[in-house]
Amino acid sequence: MTVTVCVGSSCHVKGARDIIARFNDFLTKQGLAEKVELKGTFCMERCGEGINWKIDEEIFSSSSVEEAVEVLRSKVQGLLTEKGT
Ligand code: FES
Repeated sequence: MTVTVCVGSSCHVKGARDIIARFNDFLTKQGLAEKVELKGTFCMERCGEGINWKIDEEIFSSSSVEEAVEVLRSKVQGLLTEKGT
């Protein structure tokens, strides 16, 4: 799984850097840092829509850092349950 966060100037101003820091923290704490690659990308051409990021090819536009972390948390739930099996 690859998580890509837009670090173009518009998303940067809205908090993309904080999102990356929080995602990194979250993935490390969950023991997923090796399963999930975290990357930055240039402008995804959706600047008007919030902070843009994606999981593989699925795009999300988050209104806040908290919201983005919640979305990531729910999306990686599957990986977390897999781990125990
Ligand atoms: S800067 Fe993020 S979509 Fe344009």
